[in-house]
Amino acid sequence: MPHFIAPSVLAANFGQLATDVQMLNNSTSDWIHVDIMDGRFVPNISFGFPVVQAIQKVATKPLDVHLMIEQPEQYIEQFRAAGAEYISVHYEACPHLHRTLQQIKATGAKAGVALNPHTSVQVLADVIQDLDLVILMSVNPGFGGQKFIQHTYKKIEQLKAMIQESQSACLIEVDGGVNQENAPALLKAGADVLVAGSFVFNSANPTQTIHDLKQISF
Ligand code: DX5
Ligand code: ZN
Repeated sequence: MPHFIAPSVLAANFGQLATDVQMLNNSTSDWIHVDIMDGRFVPNISFGFPVVQAIQKVATKPLDVHLMIEQPEQYIEQFRAAGAEYISVHYEACPHLHRTLQQIKATGAKAGVALNPHTSVQVLADVIQDLDLVILMSVNPGFGGQKFIQHTYKKIEQLKAMIQESQSACLIEVDGGVNQENAPALLKAGADVLVAGSFVFNSANPTQTIHDLKQISF
């Protein structure tokens, strides 16, 4: 499968959000990554339902919603109604992960789990068959523009082996500090989806940057 690019709107200009989403529509991006932060699970607050709805109104690409929030099970249906195609919860925020994944699937959305940098991929061994997506955090969640954590490569390889062994169709997404330099090695290690926020939106020509990330072969 060719890899997917999921630019994160966290790094967009919120004063002209519709324009930035239209740029993504017209680019070779595959998904639109939407980062939700609650100021509790992570030490930052991003945005909520009205903004997701506003993105969905303009977007022609699937919304990949990454919930960095406590008790995400309270809001799954609302995020689905706001237009989420993929809904990912954090392993660290879900004492009843299996139940929460079933709840996501019951809405018709695709179900994902995100792992913090310190969380081993082994914790997913017993739910891997139920997953559509795993987000491997390659920075500590909460902020865009952070430095990529090198240990992520090893986790991608371990997760890839687990997925192949279980014959799961789950995709591996890498989120945080992704750029043109590390993207080839991430893809080589087994990543299927690359999230890129600041690297895309802070570049001189975001459409071209997305194109370049999409063109990478290894
Ligand atoms: C981090 C978010 C990321 C972030 C990526 O908490 O989950 O999706 O927006 O931004 P960059 O690409 O700038 O690291
Ligand atoms: Zn994210």
